[in-house]
Amino acid sequence: MERHIESLLNKISLTLTIISTILLLYVYLQTPQTCIHPTTPLSKPNLKFPSSTCDSSLLHHHHYIPPSKKTHKLWSSNSWKKQVFSYTHFFNNLKFNDDVITIRNETRILCVSAGAGHVVMALKQMGVEDVTGVDVVDTFPLVSKADMFNLPFFDHVFDFAFTEHLDEALFPRRYVGEMERTVRKGGELVVLVEDCDGEEDVKEIVGLFEKSEFVSAFKVNLVGARMTRIIMRRNK
Ligand SMILES: *[C@@H]1O[C@H](CO)[C@@H](O)[C@H](O)[C@H]1NC(C)=O
Repeated sequence: MERHIESLLNKISLTLTIISTILLLYVYLQTPQTCIHPTTPLSKPNLKFPSSTCDSSLLHHHHYIPPSKKTHKLWSSNSWKKQVFSYTHFFNNLKFNDDVITIRNETRILCVSAGAGHVVMALKQMGVEDVTGVDVVDTFPLVSKADMFNLPFFDHVFDFAFTEHLDEALFPRRYVGEMERTVRKGGELVVLVEDCDGEEDVKEIVGLFEKSEFVSAFKVNLVGARMTRIIMRRNK
C-alpha cells in the first residue's frame, strides 16, 4: 500500500514537472511584441510632433471631445459669423481672382497666431480638410497651443501658411523662419500686416523672409480694417 502511494506521488510530481516545463517553454517562446509598453513616454519628445491635425498624436483629443455648449453659443453669435465671413471672402479672393494661389480641399494649411479660430473655421467651411491653427493659448477645438518661435511640426509639412500677427511678433525674423521651415518648397506664405503706405514698409517685411521670394503685395479689407496682404513663395 505504501509503495503504491509512493509511486502515485512520484507520477504526480513527474506530471507537474512536465507541465511546468512546458509552461516555462511557452512563456520563453512567446517573444513580446514590443519591448516598451505602449504607454511609456518616448524619450525623444520631438518624435511625437504632429505633421498636421490629421496625424497628430499631440492634438488627438480634438477628435473625441465635441465642442461645448458655450462654444456653440459663441459660434452662432453674429459677431463671430461676421468675422468668419470676412475671412471666407479673403480666402475666396485668393482662390479665384489671383492666379498665384490655389487653395484646394486637400491643401494643408497652417494658421499661425490663429486667435479664437475664425480663420480656421472659415477655411474648414470652404472645404479645406487639413487646417491647423496654433496660438499661445489653446482655443478648443479650432486652435491648439504652440510656441510660435518653435513650432511643433516637422519641416515642409504644409502647403500654405497664413498669419495676420507678424507685426506683433517679438522676434519677427524667428517667427517668419518657423513659418518658412514648416512650409514645403514651392508652397506659399501669406501675411497680413497693418496697411503699409510705402514700398519701404513692404520691403521691410519681405526682408524678413530668407527662403522665399516675393510674389505680391495688395491692399485688402479684413474684418473692417485696411490691411496689406503680402504673398511670398518658398523657393529654397
Ligand atoms: C470641397 O469641399 C466642399 C465642402 O465640403 C465641397 O462642397 C466641394 O465639392 C469639395 N470640392 C472638391 C473639388 O472636392
